[in-house]
Amino acid sequence: MNYLEIAKEKYEKLKTQRDVTILAIESSCDETSIAVVKNGRQVLSNIVSSQIDIHRLFGGVVPEVASRNHIKNIVAVLEESLKASNLSLKDMDAVAVTYGAGLIGALLVGINFAKTLAYALKVPLIAVSHVHGHIGANYISHLDLEPPFLCLMVSGGHTALIDVQNYCRFHLIGSTVDDSVGECFDKVARVLGLPYPGGPAIQKMAQDGKNVVKFNYKTPLKDTYNFSFSGLKTAVVNFVHNKEQKHEEFSKSDIACSFQELVTDELCTKTMRACKELKQKKLVVAGGVGANSRLREKLQDYCTKNNIKLYLPALKYCTDNAAMIGAIAYYYIKAGIGFADLTLTAKPTVSI
Ligand code: KG4
Ligand code: ZN
Repeated sequence: MNYLEIAKEKYEKLKTQRDVTILAIESSCDETSIAVVKNGRQVLSNIVSSQIDIHRLFGGVVPEVASRNHIKNIVAVLEESLKASNLSLKDMDAVAVTYGAGLIGALLVGINFAKTLAYALKVPLIAVSHVHGHIGANYISHLDLEPPFLCLMVSGGHTALIDVQNYCRFHLIGSTVDDSVGECFDKVARVLGLPYPGGPAIQKMAQDGKNVVKFNYKTPLKDTYNFSFSGLKTAVVNFVHNKEQKHEEFSKSDIACSFQELVTDELCTKTMRACKELKQKKLVVAGGVGANSRLREKLQDYCTKNNIKLYLPALKYCTDNAAMIGAIAYYYIKAGIGFADLTLTAKPTVSI
């Protein structure tokens, strides 16, 4: 039998196999990460090699630099991950990899590495959507969590409300019509002279905010589940430029704090309305901006008041990591999706 026939046969067996151990690879942006995850819930290892310090020098992720660093790091990350899991490559039942959304060159490094491993080990290759992976971060953070639930997806690439009907059925309720909320944090941070990534820097600076800054901005798209953040971004940028041109003083902390309040209010208001209208009593947060302490605090408040159970991913699983890819890959296998052959390639965007 050739590789494809062997892989297909093994994939079919995995659908009913009791224990499934997955080697998962994530390289969609600036983190090289490899994890070993058992049965979608048990993280045996999760090594994340971050390139943040390198990209910070440029004020954001430089795609070509990201790809080169993935190549440089990926073998060492694999070795470390296997060591931490106390397992070896021969114990892996499948190799899962993020195929999109993300930076093409960065994704291709992970995909080609995954293909090589799957081929050499004669195990199935599972192609995973990065967005689904972020949702999977909650299955390893909350062992009791099961669909259905409503998900607020707030990452660097996506801002969306998703009706998660079962482990592999996702219905998009609303999404951003322009910038993602993560992009907005990063751009506002940049105009304030804060380092990349902007989210954590804004959060820190906002702690010292005392006065509310009134930006020239009105919350858009109030009656839909869609979001728009480019107007707020422009309002903050214009506010800062105006002050600079007039040589007027302004407080960066007040700006960071007021911006963060507006963004988190908008996210919370729409999310809570969706919970109410869809009669959903379980809310799950996913993505890097889910690490924002003010967002977490406000959502918790709203949820407590409205008798909704809130699931927040552990901080280490909010931003990109391979454990979340390994978690959702398990459910892909059980649902009979995700099987990929060696022609698998990278996708810059994926639909939810
Ligand atoms: O989900 P993620 O790691 O990558 C993508 O899939 O895009 O999200 C990265 C985004 C960045 O925009 C970063 O600034 C933001 O998440 N972020 C935060 C915080 N930590 C990371 N935004 C607000 N507050 C944070 N604490
Ligand atoms: Zn991500």
